[in-house]
Amino acid sequence: MTIHDEVNKRKTFAIISHPDAGKTTMTEKLLLFGNLIRSAGTVKGKKTGKFATSDWMEIEKQRGISVTSSVMNFPYKDYQVNILDTPGHEDFSEDTYRTLTAVDSVVMIIDATKGIEAQTLKLFKVCKMRGIPIFTFINKLDREGREPFELLEEIEQVLNIKTYPMNWPAGMGKRFLGTFDRYNEQFIQYNGNEEETYIPFSDLDQSEHETLVSDPTYQAANDELALVEEAGDDFSLDDVLAGEQTPVFFGSALAPFGVQTFFDTFISMAPVPAPRKSTEGVISPDNPDFSGFVFKIQANMNPAHRDRVAFLRVCSGKFERGMSVKLARTGKPIRLAQSQQFVASSRGTIEEAYAGDIIGIYDPNAYQIGDTLQEGKNLFEYQELPQFPPEQFQWVTAKNVMKAKQFKKGIEQLVQEGAIQMYKHHRSESYILGAVGELQYEVFQYRMKNEYHVDVALEPIGERVPRWLKPDQVDPSLFDERNMLVRDRYDNYVVLFKNEFSMNWFHDNHPDIELIDLFSVNQYDQTT
Ligand code: G4P
Repeated sequence: MTIHDEVNKRKTFAIISHPDAGKTTMTEKLLLFGNLIRSAGTVKGKKTGKFATSDWMEIEKQRGISVTSSVMNFPYKDYQVNILDTPGHEDFSEDTYRTLTAVDSVVMIIDATKGIEAQTLKLFKVCKMRGIPIFTFINKLDREGREPFELLEEIEQVLNIKTYPMNWPAGMGKRFLGTFDRYNEQFIQYNGNEEETYIPFSDLDQSEHETLVSDPTYQAANDELALVEEAGDDFSLDDVLAGEQTPVFFGSALAPFGVQTFFDTFISMAPVPAPRKSTEGVISPDNPDFSGFVFKIQANMNPAHRDRVAFLRVCSGKFERGMSVKLARTGKPIRLAQSQQFVASSRGTIEEAYAGDIIGIYDPNAYQIGDTLQEGKNLFEYQELPQFPPEQFQWVTAKNVMKAKQFKKGIEQLVQEGAIQMYKHHRSESYILGAVGELQYEVFQYRMKNEYHVDVALEPIGERVPRWLKPDQVDPSLFDERNMLVRDRYDNYVVLFKNEFSMNWFHDNHPDIELIDLFSVNQYDQTT
């Protein structure tokens, strides 16, 4: 099989949702399809949010890292599936965002009883910014939820994306009869926890389906469907692949209902690995030279073993264990001897991988988040990973002033590694940390103590709204401790506004000063 054939089998995606919307339940069903587990209910020790099949536990124990919350990989039909997990509530951090830079599409799970929730919205914004195709699964149809029209409208308005219902539900909760599968032109009948029945649209007028068809719930849904057909947007795969339209599937991950049809349709439509931008132009996934980038580094939290694993998204060529590559940032050669793929059924060492695959490589403290590894003569780097907007900020100091040197070294290394973001007050030069999740502070404190032997004191500043300033528009006299002027690690000026209100007030009073949010500051950097 050629590299091209291998690449075109790869479907690499993340499942995103707000905690409790059903991500674990859905993942479990997909693993069943992939024969990675034998029966439902084996995967999760729910309340801990952790997977619990023995194979994975074993890897976790051996490596001391949480691989289960990382990557699952299995063949399905003609495809090779890579699912990247995005950590839940408590573990939400920049890693969660960065995971989205390593996938080619995303499945967004929404709880039909709740609609769009905070965490979905955050992750969605990153997908939208990067133009990642998004497939939506509206879950828990076996419960009384919100009206389908209302849910679709909310997705369109809150998320600013067109929707195309791939199926249309007939009832919900106790009245749930099934869905009209528009794509495959069949009615999928819900039979509780029993197998679903597929009735081609053309057979619905047969007498055996009379009870179903004459049910008022069915008829109401049929009328709604007619409305959708008439007034809704047309389906456009191009728009889907450009991240401008999301195919929406209604179902129940738990029952399970509509999951198989969803997955088959999703897998057939989801994009294969695409060319990626680099400093030397666009690199095709079929390019025979291996390349990839590091999007996550997992340090062993056990101080006795200082090993770290770097997660690499392969972007071109063929990875072979033991191969020599170059680290683009330094130009130095590195041999990739210890590599792992996180396959529950055949855990351990991976011998080869292609664009779209995610591999774990042993990190002898050499890698940074965003690093490009490659074969070939021309060194290039993949487009820098975006910085993601921190939401909470804290002052940070060393408890013992004699440890200033280690303190500085530790902070700089951890920041470089992407564990947390760092700023300095524009006048006092005091250090400020910024994070998107609470856990990042805990990890920071722990690692400063264990790896750099520095006890740090954190003092909350609270939630702030960061906005970058253009270098020629910085006027320190306009800012105070409320709207604080700081510099990021690249020495760009940033204002940490007290809240949205303060930011808007400032903007109204100084309309000429451009306030750049984190996403666009990257574009700004690239154009200057
Ligand atoms: P998460 O990973 O997104 O946090 O969600 P998870 O799959 O753990 O699901 C959260 C809860 O919602 C679980 O119930 C799960 O059983 C339930 N659930 C998931 N999909 C469906 C569905 O289609 N219909 C219904 N009715 N419930 C669903 P729990 O009580 O919190 O946990 P458990 O004790 O049942 O495991």
